[in-house]
Amino acid sequence: MTAEPRLRAARAADLPALLALEARFPGDRLSARQFRHHLDNPRARLRVAVGEGGLLGYHLLLLRRGSAWARLYSIAVDPSARGRGLGRRLLADAEAQARAAGCTGLRLEVRQDNAAAVALYEASGYRREAALPAYYEDGAPGWRYAKAAGHDFGPTAA
Ligand SMILES: CC(C)(COP(=O)(O)OP(=O)(O)OC[C@H]1O[C@@H](n2cnc3c(N)ncnc32)[C@H](O)[C@@H]1OP(=O)(O)O)[C@@H](O)C(=O)NCCC(=O)NCCS
Repeated sequence: MTAEPRLRAARAADLPALLALEARFPGDRLSARQFRHHLDNPRARLRVAVGEGGLLGYHLLLLRRGSAWARLYSIAVDPSARGRGLGRRLLADAEAQARAAGCTGLRLEVRQDNAAAVALYEASGYRREAALPAYYEDGAPGWRYAKAAGHDFGPTAA
């Protein structure tokens, strides 16, 4: 039986694997510069999931000064590791990080055509707050989702 991937804070040595993971997705990608910036940013939480096959996923959470709402900037799971609950674990970890930082909720934006991510957020208790016309660089529309802190917000800190 394979061990569950472990979630931990990202470090500089994870950068090549993070970039390799990003390279596997079409569309908007985080650059090396952006990852480096967020590794050093005290108001960001960049966390990775590491399994036997190496880096299998990550999330990037941004905490905003003066805002009780954290923003999930990015979340991704390697195609080889999808459909086994890792996205759900990473999302719960982001919520736990937000709660630990004193936030009362989490917001995120997602492409309307990203069925897997929309299903993940809705299954995790996120509510659709707004439609965002032409939100993405290619003109595609997005949704804004939010989840206010409640008893199920951030239940499983890794
Ligand atoms: C979205 C993503 C992170 C989901 O990761 P994952 O590890 O496969 O998700 P999980 O296995 O934890 O799935 C949790 C729930 O999400 C939903 N879900 C996940 N993938 C799905 C799919 N392909 N189709 C429909 N629902 C899906 C289901 O409700 C699932 O619960 P269930 O297994 O009990 O039915 C992954 O598909 C991914 O990395 N996509 C590319 C990057 C991306 O789009 N990120 C989001 C940008 S906003």
